[in-house]
Amino acid sequence: MTTDFTGKVVVVTGGARGQGAAHTTLFAELGATVYSLDLLDDLGTELQKSLTSRGLNVTYHHHDVTSEADWDALVADLDTRHEALDVLVNNAGIVHTAEIPEENLVQFQRVLSVNTTGVFLGMNKCWTLLANARGSIVNIASVYGLHSNPGYVAYTASKAAVVGMTRTAAVEGAEIGIRANCISPGTVQTQQLADEGRSYVREATPMDRGADPREISNVVAFLASPAASFITGVEVPVDGGFSAH
Ligand SMILES: NC(=O)c1ccc[n+]([C@@H]2O[C@H](COP(=O)([O-])OP(=O)(O)OC[C@H]3O[C@@H](n4cnc5c(N)ncnc54)[C@H](O)[C@@H]3O)[C@@H](O)[C@H]2O)c1
Repeated sequence: MTTDFTGKVVVVTGGARGQGAAHTTLFAELGATVYSLDLLDDLGTELQKSLTSRGLNVTYHHHDVTSEADWDALVADLDTRHEALDVLVNNAGIVHTAEIPEENLVQFQRVLSVNTTGVFLGMNKCWTLLANARGSIVNIASVYGLHSNPGYVAYTASKAAVVGMTRTAAVEGAEIGIRANCISPGTVQTQQLADEGRSYVREATPMDRGADPREISNVVAFLASPAASFITGVEVPVDGGFSAH
């Protein structure tokens, strides 16, 4: 299985902590030049320091996935330095829970803005650079893209859209060599899960544990690698059996 990313350029959004930090670390360990993007500058800078001290090629950049200007600046930088992008991991995301009658428009749109518009902008702005590399997109959806529980109206809307957009990217990208896939984690041991409090998905997971972030990263790297060269448009649950119910 080829998962050597030496000489490849990888962008990871939401890369300062949690799963994004794990993706940043794994791609760097596999030889890539990684652009790790987030709003959490202290954590991002700390991660960059610890990885570069190991001789790995990682730079942290302050980047809001909802900002068109931030994407334009990133793409200009990538274009100047590399003229191509091999892997885009749209990982940044937020969760907010409220049942439908209590949900408000501002919160609803905030979740869609980060989880859905952020993924759209990433694909939209990086498309030409990805085409130059015959590159790969890995979007992070959620089991909440296809399942639900009370309180998840905004999150389910945002993640179902990620599954749909991934399929669109796959059919539009096939002709020019871009592959697009998404992963639907169940529960992963990160701050987001801690913020969520009681987790229905965690309680209904047959393997009776949350994932280590690295267990998601391994699948991201596989989907982005030549080992997955005939896989595009799929949604891969990585959920300890949750979606088997
Ligand atoms: N933790 C889980 O159980 C779980 C399950 C399924 C899916 N997910 C998804 O996995 C992805 C990663 O989440 P995580 O578990 O690592 O949680 P996390 O909260 O630790 O990480 C999310 C990261 O995204 C960043 N972020 C938020 N808004 C941003 C913005 N506007 N621009 C740039 N970065 C922004 C945060 O600062 C944070 O570093 C998310 O898309 C999340 O929805 C998480």
